[in-house]
Amino acid sequence: MPDRMILIEKRGRVGLVTLNRPEARNALNDQMLHELMDVLEAFDKDESVGALVVTGDEKAFAAGADIKEMSGRSLSEMRDGDHLSVFSRIMAIRKPVIAAVSGWALGGGCELALSCDMIIASETAKFGQPEITIGVIPGAGGTQRLTHAVGKALAMEMILNNRTLSAQEALQAGLVNRVVATDRYLEEAMKLAGEIAAQAPIAVRAAKRMVNQAYEQPLTAGLHSERQEFYNLFATEDQKEGMKAFIEKRKPVWKGK
Ligand code: CAA
Repeated sequence: MPDRMILIEKRGRVGLVTLNRPEARNALNDQMLHELMDVLEAFDKDESVGALVVTGDEKAFAAGADIKEMSGRSLSEMRDGDHLSVFSRIMAIRKPVIAAVSGWALGGGCELALSCDMIIASETAKFGQPEITIGVIPGAGGTQRLTHAVGKALAMEMILNNRTLSAQEALQAGLVNRVVATDRYLEEAMKLAGEIAAQAPIAVRAAKRMVNQAYEQPLTAGLHSERQEFYNLFATEDQKEGMKAFIEKRKPVWKGK
């Protein structure tokens, strides 16, 4: 069994996963992607964890799918192996996932960041979809998620002509939540995750689900689903506690029930 390619840590109510192949700029090979998804799913089931952070190192969040691993694969090996479907496992994570990105977030690395719910970028972060330069296109959501995130014009340029975005450009384009100094990006992501993890857990999961639904459903159906989710929260103890605490002018104590 090869060494683990990710590092796992729990800080307070935040689960932290660090991609750990610095010598390959955290290129995402099959083993690493499976380890990553396994641990995200384990944290998702762990009641003592309220939010997750995925990060790389200062030089690279991740430089994409592992080109050396996939370069010799045939069509049937790609199609039957369906290696990229592992990316869709992140969509089923119910708790918020924050990407803390420094350095390169390219190809599958950019797509991994885009699969997260929020992105905190260091000022050295660079986002791009360079697949066209190696004769392919994004295969883990880039053509879809990037277009939703930055709009058609910029997505076209990034995907058809390998235009990379600096951290500031990514901020302007609405791809990232904020840009912070390189020595603070992880701390900032952990702080945000910690704050969200301290909110009412069932409401947080419902909120994440509904924001994501905005990309999946027409407006009327989305508004209907949101209303039902809102009503459903009145079956939770946390709704009673939250509203009572407001009226009593004190901080709520969440039970996650
Ligand atoms: N796959 C495999 N190995 C990679 C890699 C990748 N995506 N990215 C970097 N590496 C390896 C390099 O081959 C090199 O290995 P060696 O030391 O054995 O030569 C090592 O990591 C360090 O890389 P560099 O020397 O190139 O480092 P750099 O700092 O000069 O450049 C970089 C960094 C700009 C990220 C450059 O490595 C690069 O352009 N990488 C490829 C980016 C890319 O094309 N990504 C898309 C992949 S396809 C994809 O992701 C499809 C999808 O949609 C899922």
